[in-house]
Amino acid sequence: TKRKLWGGRFTGSTDPLMHEFNQSLKYDKRMYAADVRGSIAFSKALLKAGILVESEQKEIERGLKVVESEWAEGKFAIQADDEDIHTANERRLSEIIGKDIGGKLHTGRSRNDQVATDMRIWLMDETARVEGYLKDMLNVMVSRAEKEVDAILPGYTHLQRAQPVRWSHFLLSHAQSFLSDLERLRQLVPRISVLPLGSAALAGNPYSLDRELLRSELGFQSIGENSMHAVADRDFIVEWLQWASLTQIHMSRLAEDLIIYSTAEFGFVLLSDAYSTGSSIMPQKKNPDSLELLRGKSGRTFGQMAGFMMSLKGVPSTYNKDLQEDKEPLFDAVDTVSAALRIAEGVLATLSINPEKMAAALTMDMLATDIADYLVRKGVPFRETHHISGRAVALAENTKRQISDLSMDEWEDLSEHFDETVKDVFDFETSVEKRNAIGGPARSMITRQVEVARNRIGK
Ligand code: ARG
Repeated sequence: TKRKLWGGRFTGSTDPLMHEFNQSLKYDKRMYAADVRGSIAFSKALLKAGILVESEQKEIERGLKVVESEWAEGKFAIQADDEDIHTANERRLSEIIGKDIGGKLHTGRSRNDQVATDMRIWLMDETARVEGYLKDMLNVMVSRAEKEVDAILPGYTHLQRAQPVRWSHFLLSHAQSFLSDLERLRQLVPRISVLPLGSAALAGNPYSLDRELLRSELGFQSIGENSMHAVADRDFIVEWLQWASLTQIHMSRLAEDLIIYSTAEFGFVLLSDAYSTGSSIMPQKKNPDSLELLRGKSGRTFGQMAGFMMSLKGVPSTYNKDLQEDKEPLFDAVDTVSAALRIAEGVLATLSINPEKMAAALTMDMLATDIADYLVRKGVPFRETHHISGRAVALAENTKRQISDLSMDEWEDLSEHFDETVKDVFDFETSVEKRNAIGGPARSMITRQVEVARNRIGK
């Protein structure tokens, strides 16, 4: 009869439903390579500590590489009793190299420090990959902003037309959020890269295992200083889930803007066919499903974060099985944010803009602030200029004209400070170009934003 790896003190067998409830292999098998890497490094520390002789360490390393290639080639035969990736790999290793040597690998190690180590190894690789996706998406945004600097569209507050801005400025406003996300992601790395291995179950190992050797073998930045904390700590996972939640909230807000801008009523952008779908009943429909999913999936990731934080909150010191609940939320969030970043990159790379529609949505009343600014330059206090400009807007509205159509007499009635030059205010390009302080939408500041963004993205 089969025996669980921990089965020594047991006489009864596990309830089948309990086995199913307990087993994590169905999802933690994706960490197989990290588990093998951790074990190979661990065997080297055992060699140095004199637990293994050189031939044994070599044999363990060879066996582990076979295990890894079995997984990679889809040939690993999962057995009914396999509980998680750690027990499955060790079981298979002993089958390949024999129990006499294979049975020595777990000396001074517990699945508690093993799983925490594997998760960190796995997450460091994934973080590097996700960073790449984020950079790719940002590069698309920045390149578009650089190329499409001529287009001017309404900027909105409260979804009401407010003031003209460059399309590039709008796009870069979203890029700014993602640039912060990029920095935050990079800042997570030192806290992911803390080595638990050597902490064993909770009380450390009695073999003076060289943890510095383990650290350098596995490329960690630092070593966990407290064995009880090292097996208990899942803050790096919480932080990653929080990072993913915020990044996807940014993506959701961008998606929402683009969904609105892609309606026939706005028509500022047109999604490519590659990222749209049709309707099963209405032949004319082209729906922005990609953007809607980017918006919708942000809720899902936030849910994973909230769920795991709730799982953590009552867990006593060190390892408790509740901690196995870290995997599905993390894996799901990594998959979701990875897909979202790549879809967003594709959407942004392929959508087309309609500068005529953008221009057509600009109305002269959006320059009412510029009229107030005009009077400020003539020495009128802003609060008064705001009022005068407001009266000009009302006058135009009441007589069903645009503010730019008021006559010279009407301007002079509104304020003695108006002269012929007031007509020059009614130009959107001029309005945007006047806003040339750092952070403004003027052409020179777009150039600056592009350069600063590229520096922040880095190589
Ligand atoms: N599959 C477990 C997890 O993911 C590994 C650690 C199990 N440790 C234990 N003492 N049962 O958390």
